[in-house]
Parts: sequence; C-alpha cells; structure tokens
Amino acid sequence: MERELALEFARVTEAAALAAARWMGRGDKNAADNAATEAMRAVFDTIHMDGVVVIGEGEMDEAPMLYIGEKLGNGDPPAIDIAVDPLEGTNIVAKGLTGAVSVLAAGPRGCLLHAPDMYMDKIVVGPEAAGCIHIDAPVEENLKNIADALAKGVNELTVVILDRPRHMELIRRCRVVGTRIQLISDGDVAPAVATGFPDSGVDVMMGIGGAPEGVIAAAAVRCLGGEMQGRLWPQNDEEIIRCKAMGLADPGKILLMDDLVRGEGVMFAATGITNGSLLKGVKFTARGAITHTVVMRGRTGTVRFIDALHRLDKKPYFGRGRRATPV
Ligand code: FBP
Repeated sequence: MERELALEFARVTEAAALAAARWMGRGDKNAADNAATEAMRAVFDTIHMDGVVVIGEGEMDEAPMLYIGEKLGNGDPPAIDIAVDPLEGTNIVAKGLTGAVSVLAAGPRGCLLHAPDMYMDKIVVGPEAAGCIHIDAPVEENLKNIADALAKGVNELTVVILDRPRHMELIRRCRVVGTRIQLISDGDVAPAVATGFPDSGVDVMMGIGGAPEGVIAAAAVRCLGGEMQGRLWPQNDEEIIRCKAMGLADPGKILLMDDLVRGEGVMFAATGITNGSLLKGVKFTARGAITHTVVMRGRTGTVRFIDALHRLDKKPYFGRGRRATPV
C-alpha cells in the first residue's frame, strides 16, 4: 500500500510542477503558486487515503486549499499526514532562475513535526557525514568534521547557503577556511536533499530558512540516511506563543532527526520545475511535457528517479486539446 502511495505522490508533484512551469519567468509568483496548488489539490483528490495536511499553504482562513487541517483523498485507510509545498521557490519561477521544485512529504499520523510558519536554523549533511555535525558547534569545526568524513579537504567541500544579510557572518567564516560556497537566492529544500547524493556536488546546507521547508527536507534526509539538525528561530513574542500553541514547549530546543520526522514510515516526492542540482526542470516539447521526479521511502530506503513524458492533451487539469507548448 505504502509502495503504491509513493508512486501516487510522484503524480501529485508532477502535476504541480507542470502547472507551475508554465509561469516560468513571467514575473507572477502568485499565479505560479496558485497554479501549482490547484493542480496538486486536484490529483490528491484521486488518491485512496485518509490524508490530512499538517504543513501546507497556511491556516484555513489564509489559504483556499491545501490549508493545515484540510482532508485529502477519499477517506479510506491508511491515515496519512501530509506536508506540501506545491511550489518551493516562488521567486525562482517568477524570474526563471534555477532550483524550483514541487515537493511533499507524507507518513503515518504524527510522524511529521507540525512546524509553525517561521524561520528555522538548519544544518544538513548526507549519510557519510551523519553523526559528525552539531548545530551548536563552531562552523569551522562542523566543516572540518564533514570534510574528514567525506575524505576531502575543507576547501573541496561545497556548502549551500541562502544569500541573505542574516548569513553574512556565516559566509565570512566559511570563506576564511576556504570552503566553496553556493549562494542561493531562494529554495533551500532541494539543496538540503541534494546533500544525500554525492554526484549532486552539494556537501552541506546551512543557515536559516523556513521551518516548514525544514521538516519537508528532513523527510528526504531520513529516507536517505543523512542527518539534519534544526532550531526554530522565532522573531518575536507572537511567534514564541505560536510555537507553544503548536506543542513546542521549548522553542529553543535543538530538533534532531527524530523530532523532525519520527519513524521509518515517511515518504518524499519532488519534481523539478526549473533546473537544479537535484532535478531537471519541466521541458515542453511537441510531443508533451517532460518531468523529472525523485521518490523515496523511509522503510526500504529505495530512491527512485522517474522521468515522464506527459501528453498534456490527455491531462484533465490542463484542459483537453490544449497546446503542449506554453502560450
Ligand atoms: P517561497 O515560499 O517564496 O517559495 O520561498 C521559499 C524559501 O526560499 C525557502 O526555500 C526558504 O527556506 C525560505 O523561503 C527563506 O525565507 P526568506 O526568503 O524569508 O529568507
């Protein structure tokens, strides 16, 4: 059952990626996000499961669909918690840059941390460097330990960091020890997942980004056997109160793998929207649209890459007879 669901989830992220990809470079991040959300929602409706959104597009009064608490599927067992980001990297798509994905994580009830929509400090590595990091260790020490685990020099590591003023000191210290840095404008889920694939060229992802994105990335890290540590980064009293209301009594607690994602029953799916270090983006061709998706299951650790050609004229949520090339 779980195996079949994993493939269904690939269909979900494919649909959202196909919808969002039409908006690449058109300067309208909200339209891209809405298109991805609607397409994702439509495919979820076709799945046999008793799904509930635990991380989504916002609270019920903020988002028309894929809101926290929304039921997905036809209500039949299994009971599944779902974390979605139909379009991870709205600005990336609006500007036609690299690294946007459509992504979801899912698993048995209670397996995913119900992360409030705020910032989280994160450090992520692949399986070879699992056990060698500590979020409170000096960055130089983490980099040295990761480099040793990967049998390379600190100056051969690639660390991905969101290009934000809050990371100036982190970037400076990485530069002092000579680590290669990939600064990204947005979208820290795909590089976090990429740490689990040696040929992605990404060794570490560090810094402060979205907490919901952190939990979604942690699902993939769990499937891959890597390690992620996080700590919520509330910005004001209101956010601290929100943490507590969501059951996180100590917002300053270090969140380890078991806090972020419990058990082995988790699944993860992502489809590239624009090209990135993990997945290629959607291509529209005369014969249809091509997507690249990765699907993983925690229980078996199997990682599948699925390349698909979609006949858009046969996809109901794209409209019958619609041209396969974007207008
Ligand atoms: P979108 O919600 O616009 O897709 O942005 C996603 C993202 O770039 C995440 O990948 C990242 O964790 C977070 O936003 C960073 O937040 P901020 O832009 O506020 O620094």
